[in-house]
Amino acid sequence: MDLDQLVSRDDSVFFRTYKRLGIAIERGEGCYLYTTSGEKILDMFGGLAVNVLGYGHKRMNDAIKAQVDKYIHISNFFYQPKQIELAEKIKKLSGFSKVFFSNSGTESIEAAIKLVRKFFLGTDKTTLVSFTGSFHGRTMGALSLTARKKYREQFQPLLPDVLHLEFNSAAELETKINKRTAAVFIECLQGEGGINPATPEFIAKLNELKNKFGFIIAADEIQSGVGRTGTFNAFTQFGLDADIFIMAKGIGGGLPLGAIAGSDRVADVFTYGEHGSTFGGNPVAAASGVVVMEELENGLISNNKAGGELLRRELNTIKQKYPQKIKEVRGMGLMAGIELSFPGDGVVTQLMKRNILVNCTNDNVIRLLPPFIISSDEIKLFCNAFEEVISEMQ
Ligand SMILES: Cc1ncc(COP(=O)(O)O)c(C=O)c1O
Repeated sequence: MDLDQLVSRDDSVFFRTYKRLGIAIERGEGCYLYTTSGEKILDMFGGLAVNVLGYGHKRMNDAIKAQVDKYIHISNFFYQPKQIELAEKIKKLSGFSKVFFSNSGTESIEAAIKLVRKFFLGTDKTTLVSFTGSFHGRTMGALSLTARKKYREQFQPLLPDVLHLEFNSAAELETKINKRTAAVFIECLQGEGGINPATPEFIAKLNELKNKFGFIIAADEIQSGVGRTGTFNAFTQFGLDADIFIMAKGIGGGLPLGAIAGSDRVADVFTYGEHGSTFGGNPVAAASGVVVMEELENGLISNNKAGGELLRRELNTIKQKYPQKIKEVRGMGLMAGIELSFPGDGVVTQLMKRNILVNCTNDNVIRLLPPFIISSDEIKLFCNAFEEVISEMQ
């Protein structure tokens, strides 16, 4: 298919929600995408943290095909063995008690908001809290929590009684959180916001205030979860006392799947019919998710930790050579951010010219979310190309 033709057809049918990259993909294999014009691209972005097992993963594809041959959908009126298997694995890997499946991150956030509302129904705990720099999704509830202006400004009015407090300001927590606080939604390692980690003091203060006021803590692990940071969830490394954690992106390995998991405290909030989703926990997506969990159990989580250490070591060496161009290298496991002292678009373009796909978030942070199967050689390949590009940037 001719690229120019695709560009004009795409432009004539779609609302302008997605700014395309100007390439068309034929197929994927491992950590590589192959374009229609025959280029081989190293994908350091992994379908925005989704393709955790890369492309063309044989066991995942076989599991998907086996489920397709049985049935591709049955309603949630039926017991679904693949859903159960996946939920059991999530429980085992997280230590949480109950799971609800949706189809996406934003829907999972909505489920968590509803759970909070029901939990505190009839009380004066109504305020929802999130933090500056956060991204929690684009449906109206989730968007109300999303603090980043560019996503929310055009869509007012949003939910009332939502506070966006300063990320990492323990002082602001102290003054703004009170007995009316129902829930705090937090990405311990912010993704869209620029790969920003919460500080230990901030998390300690949040836990302390939860003890005092009894609100719910919901950890948004949509980008950082499913083993990416070297533990199943990032929030455990931060010591956050979460009651709910929220998943999507990687759990389906590429098929649409989201979930929330709750601790014992919130395990019995929902009763039959109060919340649901026609497609939530689709059996094909669940079959794919089971393979993701199996691979995590088989050592992928520790690989991510080791891969992340290598990546950051290499990047910090480059930073030392170009301290005026690279402000900071941040992240955990295979979720990394390189803060530049100038806008990052040019770096993205130059890397693309070298057949490497990265993303720039928050204007000047090069964001890396590669598939978990990335090898040391591929990490070094990226770092060499990145150094070359940085050395040439004026
Ligand atoms: C931390 C976080 N929360 C929520 C979302 C929304 O997920 P989705 O795009 O699947 O609705 C995203 C997506 O980028 C995210 O990174």
